[in-house]
Amino acid sequence: MLAIRSIATPAARQCLRAAPRPAVTLALHSQRTYSAKHDKVAKFTGEKASNGRYTVSLIEGDGIGPEISQSVKDIFEAAKTPIQWEPVDVTPIIKDGKTAIPDDAIESIRKNKVALKGPLATPIGKGHVSLNLTLRRTFNLFANLRPCRSVAGFKTPYDNVDTVLIRENTEGEYSGIEHVVVDGVVQSIKLITREASERVLRFAFQHAEEIGRKKVRVVHKATIMKMSDGLFLSVANQVAKDFPGIEFDAELLDNTCLKMVTDPLPYNDKVLVMPNLYGDILSDMCAGLIGGLGLTPSGNIGDECSIFEAVHGSAPDIAGKALANPTALLLSSMMMLRHMGLTEYADRIEKATFDTLAEGKALTGDLGGKAKTHEYAAAIISKL
Ligand SMILES: NC(=O)c1ccc[n+]([C@@H]2O[C@H](COP(=O)([O-])OP(=O)(O)OC[C@H]3O[C@@H](n4cnc5c(N)ncnc54)[C@H](O)[C@@H]3O)[C@@H](O)[C@H]2O)c1
Repeated sequence: MLAIRSIATPAARQCLRAAPRPAVTLALHSQRTYSAKHDKVAKFTGEKASNGRYTVSLIEGDGIGPEISQSVKDIFEAAKTPIQWEPVDVTPIIKDGKTAIPDDAIESIRKNKVALKGPLATPIGKGHVSLNLTLRRTFNLFANLRPCRSVAGFKTPYDNVDTVLIRENTEGEYSGIEHVVVDGVVQSIKLITREASERVLRFAFQHAEEIGRKKVRVVHKATIMKMSDGLFLSVANQVAKDFPGIEFDAELLDNTCLKMVTDPLPYNDKVLVMPNLYGDILSDMCAGLIGGLGLTPSGNIGDECSIFEAVHGSAPDIAGKALANPTALLLSSMMMLRHMGLTEYADRIEKATFDTLAEGKALTGDLGGKAKTHEYAAAIISKL
């Protein structure tokens, strides 16, 4: 699956001129090209088992992970969702000196094509890189999809926020190519390739069609990073031609930040798509608009498989006390159901969830209520 390829983009060449010419070689997943609009990016290809259910790999995670996963399992069971869970242990191993996911876990996710993931604690100073990053790299999860929708009943400075942001997840500023030129001078290379840009942009346009949005906006800094962001933008212009029903435009990152925190509502009819670092920062800013990471779902999308997860961490301070709010993981599992084509189940569970939140009688402590995790889940189940 992995192909070794030398990268010699104009941007990389320019950066390397001043450096002591290290050989820049990257391990990239084999790239696929998308020739037509109907060549669907990240299509779910999982198949039902003989009992009529899809198998989903479940990484319960650390800290509050098992508690919030239990709520999702209980709600899915009550809604008669045609899913069976395959528990997966991703406790990292060191393979050839690098952090790796155990083979059984990789096999499970590859086979099922989809996984739901609770939060994973990143041990500090234990010598292995973030497991979240390792999962992203192992499965080449090239797009991070982060919708942020206001929750009725949970008061924040803005009502009715409904943003959808897609972040390129594999390269850009996070390519990991850094080196010392001379003592006290370092270079970090921002890598943008046509292939990865096209893939995430096509996904953004297709996602806009799927969720009924008529506008896609690229967020960039091509005024400053003329070659790298310039390439992303020019690929966007080309891809846009395949989607005549979608209005396409672009906006400078600083301008987007200013406008979004001033009035986020004009962004409710758009899908925003952008290179890695901008998406990392802007997606957390959008989460802030709806009250923080506790209510924010996300999907890490790949061609081979996709992993859906809550954005918050393992909350060790409240783990094991039945105080955790499972909403973010539950909303992530709704994204997963829609990705799998099980939209009716997603709509039903999502409505019961938002109704429970709006009613405000069984909220967890982080939302100002007194309910235990399982009591909140039971309230949702009673509304199914
Ligand atoms: N995606 C992930 O797997 C992920 C993301 C962020 C952090 N982490 C890891 O989680 C661990 C703890 O990180 P942290 O403390 O910085 O952030 P955290 O998100 O775990 O906790 C921050 C605060 O939010 C609260 N909180 C988080 N989720 C909640 C929920 N569902 N319900 C109620 N309250 C909730 C916590 O109690 C805590 O007070 C670290 O090891 C970190 O590396 C993992």
